[in-house]
Amino acid sequence: MLVTIVGTQLGDEGKGGIVDVFGGDADVVVRYQGGDNAGHTVVEGDEEYKLSLVPSGAVRGKVTLLGNGCVVNPATLFDEIDALRERGLEPDVRVAARAHVILPVHRLFDGIEEVAKGDLAAGTTKRGIGPTYEDKAARRGVRVGDLLDPEVLRERLSYLLKQKHDIATEVYGHEPGSELDLESTIEKCHEFAERLRTEEMVVDAGPFLEERIEAGANVMFEGAQGTSLDIDHGIYPYVTSSNASAGGVCTGTGLGPTTVGSGAVVGIIKAYLSRVGTGPLPTELGGVEGQTPDYEPGSDDDEAETLARRIRDEGGEYGTVTNRPRRVGWLDMPMLRHATRVNGLTGVVINHLDVLAELDVVRVGHSYRLDGEERLTMPATTERWGDCEAVFREFDGWPAIDPDAITDAGYDGLPAGARAYVAYIIDELDVELHAVGVGPARDDTIVRSNPFQ
Ligand code: GDP
Ligand code: IMO
Ligand code: MG
Repeated sequence: MLVTIVGTQLGDEGKGGIVDVFGGDADVVVRYQGGDNAGHTVVEGDEEYKLSLVPSGAVRGKVTLLGNGCVVNPATLFDEIDALRERGLEPDVRVAARAHVILPVHRLFDGIEEVAKGDLAAGTTKRGIGPTYEDKAARRGVRVGDLLDPEVLRERLSYLLKQKHDIATEVYGHEPGSELDLESTIEKCHEFAERLRTEEMVVDAGPFLEERIEAGANVMFEGAQGTSLDIDHGIYPYVTSSNASAGGVCTGTGLGPTTVGSGAVVGIIKAYLSRVGTGPLPTELGGVEGQTPDYEPGSDDDEAETLARRIRDEGGEYGTVTNRPRRVGWLDMPMLRHATRVNGLTGVVINHLDVLAELDVVRVGHSYRLDGEERLTMPATTERWGDCEAVFREFDGWPAIDPDAITDAGYDGLPAGARAYVAYIIDELDVELHAVGVGPARDDTIVRSNPFQ
């Protein structure tokens, strides 16, 4: 059985936590896109793990794989593996030979380009994600398999670093440092290769998975980012550079759509919106300087600002990777309808219901008003999306949720207001409800049905 876990919004929906909850039934947990721009949190008892590259299944001791659709910074990968080992885990991480390598030069360019872009900057995590996918598409990248072949590596890097050197110095007037130096990059790559080889981490992802699936293994695909950050289906250009949506599972692992589609596709929904980065956000509450376009801070008694601060603090909405305050807003239903179609969702999990507790009223952006007409879905261009005015529906608030009491009582123990809110979402999207989250810990998830069963 195969289960895909995918973000339905703008990332940080609690994917890592849900991979952990249902990952108990998985044999292999696979990342299929993205790199260390992700920040996935797993809370097991008193232990909190923040994972950027190692798939969340590592916490449960599963075999994990970074598929060919990923971009891998070996330095981050090894640091993360070492940190997990120090905490007593034994992560078994395999890396696809076809995955692309994030080199120091890619991080350098992520920084240079974000500055040069001005208003078009996405507010990236500066991990070199975009520049690495750019080199992949331009057929000048370095793949994990190339690290193991010194001759190929030198040939690839010679061209890549010469090209980058010329652009950095001649276009951007950058003073060249070690990131642009061939010999020091090769030396780093040799060190990475040595460890990859010693720990036998490099595999051919497709056959590796096929063999296990044929032997009856349960496989879970762990999406990073979210559907509206997808390079094709997101709010371009304020997106990441990979296919975060479920289509990415095929291209990012080497399994075909009939195989991946034979299983469940579970969309993770945060009960409100959060966003790290720039671009429009029709249901935004208040704003964050440097991220919300044309933002001017409101006064202290501004209702939207107060609500935004409350949700941000209650939900701990500060970036896992960059610690930036996240922008927050009400749930955006057109965004979720879009995600349901793009991913072919069979079910959802709705997280963070506890964060919205104790509000008088909970609002939902049910539809948009655009050019005087109501519409239920997102327009195809981000500029038009920015022109949309959210049309809200209101729900009665609900009292504080005590995770321990609810986990014992089950779904019916949720306050009636929260159940009405969940029922509305499920009804609108016409999908199965697998679970709801009422706190960050594994035990704070109320499971209604397991997608593996
Ligand atoms: P991911 O990137 O989708 O894996 O999500 P992140 O880990 O970046 O962000 C989600 C944050 O919310 C983490 O700190 C989680 O521990 C936390 N979290 C997940 N589910 C819930 C929930 O239902 N309620 C609360 N209060 N926090 C949650
Ligand atoms: P997880 O997996 C939230 C955002 C960045 C920026 C844009 C492009 O934890 O949900 P990038 O560094 O990828 O080129 O940045 O995408 N972004 C995320 N936002 N959660 C994430 O991952 C994100 N990964 C990238 O803030 O706006
Ligand atoms: Mg995250």
